[in-house]
Amino acid sequence: MKLQQRLFTRMYKKAPSAESLAWHRDDPVPLLTKAVAGRPSGGRALDLGCGTGLDAVYLAQQGYEVTAVDFVADALAATQERAASVGVSVDCSEGDVINVDVSGPFDIVLDSGCLHHIPKNNIAAYRERIDEWLGPSSDYVLVHFAHRSRIPVPKGPNHLDRAQATALFAPLELKDYDELFYDVPLPMGKMRAGVYWFQNTRR
Ligand SMILES: C[S@@+](CC[C@H](N)C(=O)[O-])C[C@H]1O[C@@H](n2cnc3c(N)ncnc32)[C@H](O)[C@@H]1O
Repeated sequence: MKLQQRLFTRMYKKAPSAESLAWHRDDPVPLLTKAVAGRPSGGRALDLGCGTGLDAVYLAQQGYEVTAVDFVADALAATQERAASVGVSVDCSEGDVINVDVSGPFDIVLDSGCLHHIPKNNIAAYRERIDEWLGPSSDYVLVHFAHRSRIPVPKGPNHLDRAQATALFAPLELKDYDELFYDVPLPMGKMRAGVYWFQNTRR
């Protein structure tokens, strides 16, 4: 098991509840709800690094056929439990987003907090997978730390600033940008995340 996967596995094992995880939110990603509102209803959605499934379940409730990927089995179990508790279904795939066996195209792809844990030497492969998964007119919503923590954290999250993220995902068109704030345990502390709504304008 790779280091990042071991670290996340331990975090899920130690967490007394989904709400106690540092990245917990009560509501779906704001620009995800905006992207959903702007689309015809239904279709296929993919949640990369789904965690305990808040966004995956939201997408299923909006009528999407949802595939949720995470490399931690406990995260997928929590996603299944959340889906069952509200009577929707989410198809869970356990694996690394870089090589997990999941085929597109998807109408919406979400990455909330996964890309900044991808090792730098795999960013190009991640970018290729996004192209593989997006159909024409699909939306890609990304939540990504907007700055590094003040104290350098060894093996801590990677970070692309807004210009770098926009350049990485070109020629996808940036439809909107927002920010979210997280209180991550020290040494990281208060973190700001950029929220990007990209659209594949290819038709
Ligand atoms: C910061 S959490 C965010 C969880 C969820 N998306 C949310 O916003 O609440 C990042 C999640 O991505 C998963 N993850 C990180 N790197 C991954 C990778 N390379 N492949 C699959 N899952 C990964 C972790 O296990 C964790 O559940």
